[in-house]
Amino acid sequence: MLLAIETSCDDTAVALYDGQQVVTEILYRQEIHAAYGGVIPEWASREHEVRLPLAVHQALVQAHLSWKDLHAIAAAQGPGLIGSLQIGFTFARALAAAHRLPFLGIHHLQAHVASLELDDKPVVYPLLVLVATGGHTHLFRVVHPLEMELLGQTQDDAVGEAFDKIAAFLGLPYPGGPEIEKLAQQGHPSAVSFPIPRTSGAWDFSFSGLKTAFLHTRQRRADLPIEDLCASWQHTVFTYLVQKLIQAAQAHRISRIGLVGGVAANQYLRRLLSHAAAEAGLDLYLAPLRYCMDNAAMIAVAAWHRYLTGRYTPLTAVPFARG
Ligand code: KG4
Ligand code: ZN
Repeated sequence: MLLAIETSCDDTAVALYDGQQVVTEILYRQEIHAAYGGVIPEWASREHEVRLPLAVHQALVQAHLSWKDLHAIAAAQGPGLIGSLQIGFTFARALAAAHRLPFLGIHHLQAHVASLELDDKPVVYPLLVLVATGGHTHLFRVVHPLEMELLGQTQDDAVGEAFDKIAAFLGLPYPGGPEIEKLAQQGHPSAVSFPIPRTSGAWDFSFSGLKTAFLHTRQRRADLPIEDLCASWQHTVFTYLVQKLIQAAQAHRISRIGLVGGVAANQYLRRLLSHAAAEAGLDLYLAPLRYCMDNAAMIAVAAWHRYLTGRYTPLTAVPFARG
C-alpha cells in the first residue's frame, strides 16, 4: 500500500494505491487562481500547506487504514512550481522518515505517462507518448514506465499554456482549456485558417505564433463569432499535434501511441486522434478522462514501478522546478 502526493502546481492531490487499483483519492483543485488568468505561485503554496495534511488524514480515514498499513510514500519531485513542490515533497519526506518507510520522489512527466496504466486497456511497450499540459508539450519514446527518451518538445509556449493565455485575453477564467473547448463546440472549425507552425527540430513544437495569430484575428475581425474563432484555432492546434504524433510514430516504426496530460481531456482532440490513429493503423492509448489533469493516482502508478525496483529516493533529495 502506497501513499502518493501530488502538489506540482495548483492541485492538492493524495492517493492510496495497492499496486493494482486506486484505493482512495482526495483531490482539491484550487479555485483562487480562476480570476487571475494563471496560477499565483505564492497562493498555490499556501493552499497546499493548509490542505495537504488534511487530505492525507482524510485519505487514511476513508480507506480505514493507518500508518502501519503503508509500505512506501511517494511525492512529485518536479518539474513544477518550486514552492508548491517543496510543500508536498518535504511533507512526504518527513512522513517517510517519521514512519521509517521507503521514500519515492517521482518525475511529474513520468507520472503523466504512467496515467495510461490507470485505464482498463493494458499498456504494451514501447510506445510513443505525447505529454500535453499547461507546462509541457513533450514527445517521448517510452520503453518502460521508468525509461523514456525525449524526442521533441515545444520551443516556446506549452499547448495548454497557449489555451490559458488566449482565455485570459478573452477574460475567461483559468484554466482556459475547458473554456475554449466549450466555445469551440458551438463554432465552425473551418471558419478561419491558421498557418501550421514550423520548427527546426522535426519532432519539436511551437505554439506562440498560433497564439499571436488568434489574438490578431480577434482584433482585426470583430465581426467573426468568437465560437468560430475558437473552433478554427483549436482545430489547427490539434491537427498539428495529431499529425506530428502520427508522423513520429511512423518514422520511429512504433505502432502504439499515447496521449496524456491536461490537454488530453479535450474531446475534440481525443476524437481527432482516434480517427487519425485508426486510419494510420496505430494502436491508441488515451489517459482516462479523470486522470488527464494533475492527480495523485498517476504519481502512485509511477511510484509503484520504482518501488518494485528497490531504487528509493534518499531523504536528502530536494525538488526541482525544471528538468
Ligand atoms: O496536466 P495539467 O493538469 O497540469 C500541468 O501539468 O500543467 O494540465 C493543465 C493544462 C491547462 O493548461 C489547461 O488549460 C489544460 O491543461 N486543459 C485543457 C483542457 N482541460 C485542461 N486544454 C484544452 N482542452 C481541455 N478540455
Ligand atoms: Zn501535470
